[in-house]
Amino acid sequence: MSKVYLNGAFVNTEEAKISPMDRGFLFGDGIYEVIPTYSGKPVGLKLHMQRMKNGLKEVSIDYPVDLNAWTDIIDKLVSQSSSESQGVYIHVSRGTDSKRYHAYPSNTAPTVFAYAFDTPPSQDSLSASIKGFHVTTGEDLRWQRCHIKSTSLLGNVMHFQQGQDAGVDEIILYNERNEITEAAACNVFIVKDGVIYTPPLDNHLLPGITRKITIDAISKYTDIGVKEAPISLDELLNADEVWITSSSKEIGPVLSVDGKLVNDGEPGEVWIKAQEAYNKYKFTC
Ligand SMILES: Cc1ncc(COP(=O)(O)O)c(C=O)c1O
Repeated sequence: MSKVYLNGAFVNTEEAKISPMDRGFLFGDGIYEVIPTYSGKPVGLKLHMQRMKNGLKEVSIDYPVDLNAWTDIIDKLVSQSSSESQGVYIHVSRGTDSKRYHAYPSNTAPTVFAYAFDTPPSQDSLSASIKGFHVTTGEDLRWQRCHIKSTSLLGNVMHFQQGQDAGVDEIILYNERNEITEAAACNVFIVKDGVIYTPPLDNHLLPGITRKITIDAISKYTDIGVKEAPISLDELLNADEVWITSSSKEIGPVLSVDGKLVNDGEPGEVWIKAQEAYNKYKFTC
């Protein structure tokens, strides 16, 4: 039976318990990360840990993130399984209070939970089994602090379900100016006339680690231009290629948007170069 990490100990999943007074349970008051690993090696670990530190600081949860300690915990969690590709979920909530009361309590110890789970194999542009995605679009109805990787994910969950109800894998969201923000659980890129575009970072989207690694890898290993610039819904619908990025998908080629095929329903040439660059770069950052 596999073990999870809870508050300093490795315990059987069934034996891991938290109080119903935990603020993570009552308010979604916490910060989380998902770190991809391949053959036990994490991708972008320092970047993920820095984002976790930033999020904890934003919401004033006093938890010192120790990179060395987390390197060991991640190693122990993934070594329990022989699966080639695993993600590690880390969740730090504000902890357990004696009552349900909105204000931050002053004396709770954070609840810290982590576990490993299998993820799809790494995207390989040379393989016959490239995973492509079908998406729909919808107005972004989440909160104004999407740059915080908060465990309060009901807005994202509802949008993701909107995609499931439409029979597709993901939903790409746009704001009141019809500009793309991100997807329910991914960042978004498009390709038009040989140039790659992705929305600039602000409080309406998560600063995705895969987004960053993708931009850095393309800049390092190719001469294709990448622009962080607003993308209109119309530009999305008329793009040569569309990609969604996340820790578990890497760079996911989108094959259709709202039922309309992108690049005749095939992963594009630029995607192949981008995913190759990503694979070369991913263990170096
Ligand atoms: C809303 C949202 N945007 C973007 C991403 C991609 O982030 P990352 O590349 O760090 O996994 C995620 C990942 O879970 C997400 O939930």
